[in-house]
Amino acid sequence: MKTRVLTGITTTGTPHLGNYVGAIRPAIRASLDANAQAFFFLADFHALIKCEDPTRIARSRTEIAATWLAAGLDPDKVLFYRQSDIVEIPELSWLLTCVTAKGLMNRAHAYKASVDANHEKGFEEDDGITMGLFSYPILMAADILMFNAHKVPVGRDQVQHLEMARDIAQRFNHQYPSAEPWFDLPEAVVDESVATLTGLDGRKMSKSYHNTIPLFEGGSRALKSAVAKIVTDSREPGEPKDAENSNLFPIFRAFANEEQTQIFKHDLSQGLGWGQAKQRLVDVIEAEVAPMREIYDQLMSRPDDVEDILQAGAKRAREVATPFMAKLRAAVGIGAYQGPTATPSNPKAKSKSKSNKGSRLVQFRDDEGQFRFKLLSSNGQTLCTSLPYGDPKQVGVIVRQLEVKYDKVTVEEEGPSTYLVLIDEQTVAQGPVFESESERDAGIVATVQALEELAV
Ligand code: TRP
Repeated sequence: MKTRVLTGITTTGTPHLGNYVGAIRPAIRASLDANAQAFFFLADFHALIKCEDPTRIARSRTEIAATWLAAGLDPDKVLFYRQSDIVEIPELSWLLTCVTAKGLMNRAHAYKASVDANHEKGFEEDDGITMGLFSYPILMAADILMFNAHKVPVGRDQVQHLEMARDIAQRFNHQYPSAEPWFDLPEAVVDESVATLTGLDGRKMSKSYHNTIPLFEGGSRALKSAVAKIVTDSREPGEPKDAENSNLFPIFRAFANEEQTQIFKHDLSQGLGWGQAKQRLVDVIEAEVAPMREIYDQLMSRPDDVEDILQAGAKRAREVATPFMAKLRAAVGIGAYQGPTATPSNPKAKSKSKSNKGSRLVQFRDDEGQFRFKLLSSNGQTLCTSLPYGDPKQVGVIVRQLEVKYDKVTVEEEGPSTYLVLIDEQTVAQGPVFESESERDAGIVATVQALEELAV
């Protein structure tokens, strides 16, 4: 099986070099790995948390889609979609909300930072904090768990959200036990060398610090004028400079190869002026960015094409999300009434049902006090009886397996007068004893049919 790599980018603002180096570039590199299936998406629901300006949200979405495509994303290979086109994501988000401890969310850095800021200003602690901000990590968990991603390339600031996603996944798995856990536990992938790029002032490059260098917007001119604003010390040309401690260096290193980096360092130590050093920085960025910018400009002039790509991506993503969501709905017991066999793992719901259409699974305790289930045909005939189990949960697990792993369930004859029901070649139930082989065979047919009806 391929490793599923997934990442999202919030569609606010205009992508800057920090986004490119910290998220887009490593993610696209990872997507080129033949052993990986990549899911990249525009997190526009997340954008609503930070931005209430519809025009900006809409514009930024196209810009960001064009950015990823220009940066080398291949939409035939990568599932590239817009979060809000996958209606299953907010749906899953709610299911996850219902298993998430509020205390877990209280610990989220982003929320705590807002609370701290309020304390500092002497405001009430939740002043201006929306439930969107508070529940942000749950929506993010839904993004990831919807596709059971294994690896999630993110910036360091998102690592806590990944831990929360794992925690939430485990709670759901635990709350709704099934043969195989519903969710794999995702892992954050932080590229240690370039995870967070520094900005003009040496702090992390971030929209909120107003210290960014634009990636494509404004062309090479905007890039140059931003680089000119990088804060340096007042050493004159000719004076030796410590590259490692300059604000130029982390940015330079993110675009240069090892050799270029060594030369840059050496020349600064020999007195290269900041002005020249900045020109070299522009050159090394442009070498990578200029060809992509050209593609970007083309895409931005044809937003309909970008839209078509996103629609095609959403269609493919929903081919995964829709059937999985149907199973998750069944797992938690919601959705349309589908007859008395709809939730066979819930015997209480069943015993209330008066309808006797279709086959039914009934859980019961035998004379020895052991837990078992029986599969009954529509006319109440016993088709098979499970092995005895000491714990009703074990019965629940097997019943779920019968529902969800239908392709792993087999019914095999066992001698001339009965048959066995197996999951993954393990016997879980046995048919009654029949008088003749033909009756036994009819029993097998009826059992297969009944199991088919159970499968979700
Ligand atoms: N919260 C992420 C950020 O601000 C964006 C994001 C949303 C994301 N959903 C995600 C990243 C899922 C990875 C996986 O950068």
